[in-house]
Amino acid sequence: SIVILDFGSQYTRLIARRFRELGTYSVILPGSASLERIEQERPVGLVLSGGPSSVYDAAAPRPAEGVLDLDVPILGVCYGMQYLAHQAGGEVKRAGKREYGKADLTRYGGQLFEGIQGEFVAWMSHSDSVTQLPQGYEVVAATEDTPVTAIENPQTRRYGVQFHPEVVHTPKGGQLLANFLDICGAARDWTAEHIVEELIEGVRQQVGEGRVLLAISGGVDSSTLGLLLARAIGEKLTAVFIDHGLLRLGEREQVEAALRPLGVHLVTVDATAEFLGALSGVSDPEEKRKIIGREFIRAFEREAREYGPFDFLAQGTLYPDVIESAGGLSSDKSGAANIKSHHNVGGLPDDLAFQLVEPFRTLFKDEVREIAALLGLPDAVRMRHPFPGPGLGIRILGEITPQKLDILKRVDDIFISGLREFGLYDSCSQALAVLTPIQSVGVMGDERTYSYTVALRAVTTGDFMTAEWARLPYDFLATMSSRIVNQVHEVNRVVYDITGKPPATIEWE
Ligand code: XMP
Repeated sequence: SIVILDFGSQYTRLIARRFRELGTYSVILPGSASLERIEQERPVGLVLSGGPSSVYDAAAPRPAEGVLDLDVPILGVCYGMQYLAHQAGGEVKRAGKREYGKADLTRYGGQLFEGIQGEFVAWMSHSDSVTQLPQGYEVVAATEDTPVTAIENPQTRRYGVQFHPEVVHTPKGGQLLANFLDICGAARDWTAEHIVEELIEGVRQQVGEGRVLLAISGGVDSSTLGLLLARAIGEKLTAVFIDHGLLRLGEREQVEAALRPLGVHLVTVDATAEFLGALSGVSDPEEKRKIIGREFIRAFEREAREYGPFDFLAQGTLYPDVIESAGGLSSDKSGAANIKSHHNVGGLPDDLAFQLVEPFRTLFKDEVREIAALLGLPDAVRMRHPFPGPGLGIRILGEITPQKLDILKRVDDIFISGLREFGLYDSCSQALAVLTPIQSVGVMGDERTYSYTVALRAVTTGDFMTAEWARLPYDFLATMSSRIVNQVHEVNRVVYDITGKPPATIEWE
């Protein structure tokens, strides 16, 4: 593997993803990880990430004793390069001006740039620069503002780049990282086929003859996990899909059609009556979430007892949830106390104490999507937008009634099917319809109406923490609006949400 030591750059995860896309397994460890911890990963190369510190800060993070003496190639990126240079006896200084954004390399060469031709645009984000080279190093790239933009010491196989080769704004950065993999002699066997084989082997070893329970949400992670576990352990898996009645039109059938033919022992439970009963008369959004969460646990427990006993609970925990990075664990995932669920379940009772099976703990979402394709998950599920666990329950403002649910399901279906029909679905990260409590006067033929307003929302985003509203074509919105008011008579007004996040959120609730 390639081990990336994280010194706090926002781009560290991208480095790991790029190496994996290039076919080499890569892990992220905290910058201070011990030599033993690093050696456990059997690294063939090391990367020192960027970070906000200056090498002269008293509290500047540094690798543990002995790490820089490892006999493997080391690539320092940004702060990582400054650290390498400083540690080897070079000099680092606060640059006259901060360099931020795209810069053209005025020259480049050497091993890292092997085979790269033409202009090289590099993404810069630094205040410090290397001003004096340590012994044994040479400068292999420069920009107008930064004479020392890349360095190398071919004898000790130490390399540094001041820019960020991992971001898309450095278009040829992928080739540079590939060159580093060649320098390391890294195997390029991290393919979907290989990942699936390893995961299946791992699950079989962990589970043995035990029985495994999995909650299916209909999303890509749990569906893919279902397929993987079915391959690995067949009938020892029971996958439970709880239909809380707050799903989209036809969703349960879609999940059944996707998983059952591929051998997943899938139990679907229609718990609509219980959920709607418990939600009756409740309009506070937090209260609704709590009730949905509680009812989910109740239904899930009941099925667990009905089909149990089980030894293991499988979860689709992903790598970004468990990376130990500079900021510490992104969340503590130790032990059975931490139950991830699409319903934000707080935990299951003690007499349902399972061991966890989390085969995707090492994977990024893109990798899950790739193995999903290999395992035969239909694209409609594989490339689906995220859908919140509480479902349409949080997209009906105010009290949830069967009638309102029925309205929203039909509106949502027209909108989402429309996006697919017009080839716009994949251009948005998420799209949704909201049933507002607003009723207003409209006119239909000779009659006045008094009906609901629905809001359509579509966003583009990378991480769902911030988002822009999607610039859907007016003609498309016009078509959606007339389809909705013509087909869903309870609605006489359609609005489109043109707010970003922040200040709004993606969902309305
Ligand atoms: P907001 O509305 O906070 O949503 O901008 C960000 C993303 O999170 C999704 N979301 C949820 N996902 N369980 C989930 O699994 C939930 O309870 C939940 N609430 C919001 C939302 O759909 C969006 O993608």
